[in-house]
Amino acid sequence: MKAIILSGGKGTRLRPLTYSGAKQLVPVANKPVLFYCIENIVEAGIKDVGIIISPETGQEIKDTVGDGGRWGIDIKYITQDVPGGLAHAIKIAHDFLADSPFVMYLGDNLIGAGIDKFVDEFQKNRPDALILLKEVEDPRQFGVAEVSSDGKVIRLIEKPEAPPSNLALVGIYLFSPEIHNAIERIRPSRRGELEITDAIQELIQMGSNVESFVLDMWWLDTGKKDDLLTANAIVLDDRLKGNISGTVDNSSRILGRVAVGKGSVIKDSTIRGPVVIGDNTVIENSFIGPHTSIGSYVKIIKSSVEHSVIMNESELRDIERLEESLVGRRVRIIENRKTHKALRLMLGDDSVVEV
Ligand code: TTP
Repeated sequence: MKAIILSGGKGTRLRPLTYSGAKQLVPVANKPVLFYCIENIVEAGIKDVGIIISPETGQEIKDTVGDGGRWGIDIKYITQDVPGGLAHAIKIAHDFLADSPFVMYLGDNLIGAGIDKFVDEFQKNRPDALILLKEVEDPRQFGVAEVSSDGKVIRLIEKPEAPPSNLALVGIYLFSPEIHNAIERIRPSRRGELEITDAIQELIQMGSNVESFVLDMWWLDTGKKDDLLTANAIVLDDRLKGNISGTVDNSSRILGRVAVGKGSVIKDSTIRGPVVIGDNTVIENSFIGPHTSIGSYVKIIKSSVEHSVIMNESELRDIERLEESLVGRRVRIIENRKTHKALRLMLGDDSVVEV
């Protein structure tokens, strides 16, 4: 069994962060989303992994992830020249996959547990595809499956206006090599992409066995801001272990589970967990509220932050209350309206500021 992780794409929904970096490297509880995908694959016993990268963000992904040695696996990189769709990614990975069955994992998807039981199920039953589904409130924004009572997939539709069910396709799929034949037979969709839903639909039409499994755990697509903040909150709630390596002065209070990295200094502040703080960060005269991840080399002075992700080297000064915010790297947010009532901004394209 092999695996491919899709880490190319355009990332339009996470602009402006994706102008300067890969969305799969955005941190959740101070760890890149992509690392959670790799760990799930490793735990399922898969050692041959191909990562699909784009020409724009591929090098950053290679530099961050490496050759897989730290997980005891072998990682190869496959460059997709254009984001031609999920089935296009499989097509360009055909040489790497050869005739092996494989897991396809979208590099920005997070689920609440491992994938070992799906891999075991797939290896036991040997279907041509096993797709994971999740009940969602508004299926119109997703690929949706119509499923028979015994879990066989009858039909798949991309973003339907009249959904046949509330079962959305989760970004984790298991395939036999038969999927390559199906992909050869499909054409690009109206949006110009080779769609995975069309390829699986083609498999069904070819008479192949397409099985499904409905997830009873959480699933989040961290390619969207709100899902990313929710993922951050859930992972902090579920997995954070309190651990103080930095320095906390006597007038500060640490409540609940809080991790503070080495070289970080907390002065005259209250930190109410679950909160993770990276290395060499300074928090002074501030309140850091639950479900917040703060990176390394960050400065937070006389400010209050909660339910947010603040990435490396950013700075907050005199900010009365920041919440539900996603702040990229080297951002400075500074209160300067004591004398002037004006806002002074320098924002990248597609930034969103609510004042
Ligand atoms: P999406 O999030 O569906 O697409 P996108 O990255 O272009 O983002 P947006 O819709 O915000 O513009 O992609 C899911 C995952 O698959 C993501 O990790 C990127 C990756 N991907 C590829 O590697 N190649 C592709 O051709 C596409 C479409 C996505």
